[in-house]
Amino acid sequence: MLNRITVVGAGNVGATTAQRLAEQELARTVVLVDVVEGVPQGKGLDQWESAPIEGFDTRIVGSNDYGPAAGSELVVVTAGIARKPGMSRDDLVRTNAEIVKQVSQQIKQHCPKAIVVVVSNPLDVMCWVTKQVTGFARERVIGMAGVLDTARYRAFLAEALDVSVEDIQAMVLGGHGDTMVPLISYTSVSGIPVTQLMTKEKLDAIVDRTRNGGAEIVKHLKTGSAYYAPSAGAVQMAEAIVNDQRRILPCAAWLQGEYGMKDLFLGVPCKLGRKGLEKVIEVELTSDERAALEKSAEAVREPMRAVKL
Ligand SMILES: NC(=O)c1ccc[n+]([C@@H]2O[C@H](COP(=O)([O-])OP(=O)(O)OC[C@H]3O[C@@H](n4cnc5c(N)ncnc54)[C@H](O)[C@@H]3O)[C@@H](O)[C@H]2O)c1
Repeated sequence: MLNRITVVGAGNVGATTAQRLAEQELARTVVLVDVVEGVPQGKGLDQWESAPIEGFDTRIVGSNDYGPAAGSELVVVTAGIARKPGMSRDDLVRTNAEIVKQVSQQIKQHCPKAIVVVVSNPLDVMCWVTKQVTGFARERVIGMAGVLDTARYRAFLAEALDVSVEDIQAMVLGGHGDTMVPLISYTSVSGIPVTQLMTKEKLDAIVDRTRNGGAEIVKHLKTGSAYYAPSAGAVQMAEAIVNDQRRILPCAAWLQGEYGMKDLFLGVPCKLGRKGLEKVIEVELTSDERAALEKSAEAVREPMRAVKL
């Protein structure tokens, strides 16, 4: 258990993340920070009042400033505006870059030793903003997207094959957007290559649905976007870090030559442990997968050019 984890942004993703962190007792104190007066305090208090029922001892504290967050060992950044129907992730870039910049300055000042898990969209660009503004080493700035994209892919596969989600091993790499790269060559069902269990047409349809997984939820909700699975993804990463699990999860990492790319965040297999990003794992890709990853990298670089830091 850590002493203190801060979640910035007490909206749908942030508040659900705080509740999950507390239920898993990953820290003694979870601090919820938001700019809207009363919201982090009210949600934090409501969550703390669920402790006797759920049986956790983690205190949840809400605040509009970073005083209670001081010294946090882990910070999850969910501040920003969420995607609205018809809005692409890239439309969000300028607004959220400004928000994440302000948040990163506060993290640097109040939580200088923290590992930061970024969730705000457009994810790969917001990771870059966080890294640039905090000046933290790449081990300490990691983005959550691949875990969510992979979870959606696994859920759709489990449903189509009528098997347990636990038996689906898969990995979705690349940027968090329509150009993400589900790796079919690394998708298996208890070790059986998925291509032996499903037709190419069916698999292609699932890959397509995964790529549009976020938009599918937005279409249903009409206002707001997904948060149950996204918060579960952030907490799975937090758990791997807090408990030094050395889990291999697809996360956005600052590439320094891996996959032949440099100076951008992109979803790749990462080993997560107590130091944060312990290692980027390079896997062999087919020529199609490599081309798709490069295309995805370009889709990340493009909005980076629009942001002035
Ligand atoms: N990476 C992913 O896979 C993924 C998945 C889902 C959502 N997201 C992103 O996560 C973010 C949050 O989504 P949500 O559904 O919780 O949105 P939301 O609108 O419910 O919550 C966002 C919160 O951020 C707060 N905020 C704004 N500026 C702030 C600042 N400077 N400091 C602190 N808080 C601030 C707002 O007041 C609001 O409470 C969005 O950018 C969304 O696109 C990412």
